[in-house]
Amino acid sequence: MKIFAFAATVASILAPVIAQTIDIGYPTDGTVFNPGQSVNAQILRPDSIIGCTEVGIALAIDTCSNGTCPSPSDVLGSVLYSGPFKPTAHAQQGFYQNFTVQIPSGLNAGEAIFTLTHLCLLGAGPTPLLEYRNASVTIS
Ligand SMILES: *[C@@H]1O[C@H](CO)[C@@H](O)[C@H](O)[C@H]1NC(C)=O
Ligand SMILES: *[C@@H]1O[C@H](CO)[C@@H](O)[C@H](O)[C@H]1NC(C)=O
Ligand SMILES: *[C@@H]1O[C@H](CO)[C@@H](O)[C@H](O)[C@H]1NC(C)=O
Repeated sequence: MKIFAFAATVASILAPVIAQTIDIGYPTDGTVFNPGQSVNAQILRPDSIIGCTEVGIALAIDTCSNGTCPSPSDVLGSVLYSGPFKPTAHAQQGFYQNFTVQIPSGLNAGEAIFTLTHLCLLGAGPTPLLEYRNASVTIS
């Protein structure tokens, strides 16, 4: 029981920190892209108390069908970038890294989901932390 209580305490301490490990600065929800367009995706790393050693990220875009977007943990669609994430400090908006990616020219018009997949190693264990972020975009 003590172990569970301890685990719950650790989880409650880590939860707000984990929520701040990474974010998509751009694109935001509602962004409209043309097929083939070049996009300056901005990936933010908010300040976090506990360090998470970066392994890498993937940026992808997938078409939504009939109002339902595929979950990134199931399928990513077109992978626009996969590789290291090395955010650097900027005068504005703190730590981030921009990635120039290209929207596939054959992507169907309509609703799409832009996803960020992030893997980092948390704490001394370390514990692998795999997480997803997304932005709802439109292909015109
Ligand atoms: C990174 O991308 C964002 C969003 O596209 C832009 O506002 C920002 O100026 C870019 N930063 C640099 C250093 O290019
Ligand atoms: C689209 O969604 C609507 C409402 O959820 C549903 O009634 C309809 O059958 C769906 N169409 C297709 C082709 O999946
Ligand atoms: C996109 O992110 C939101 C939270 O920002 C989440 O509620 C939603 O389930 C995500 N969508 C998919 C398809 O994973």
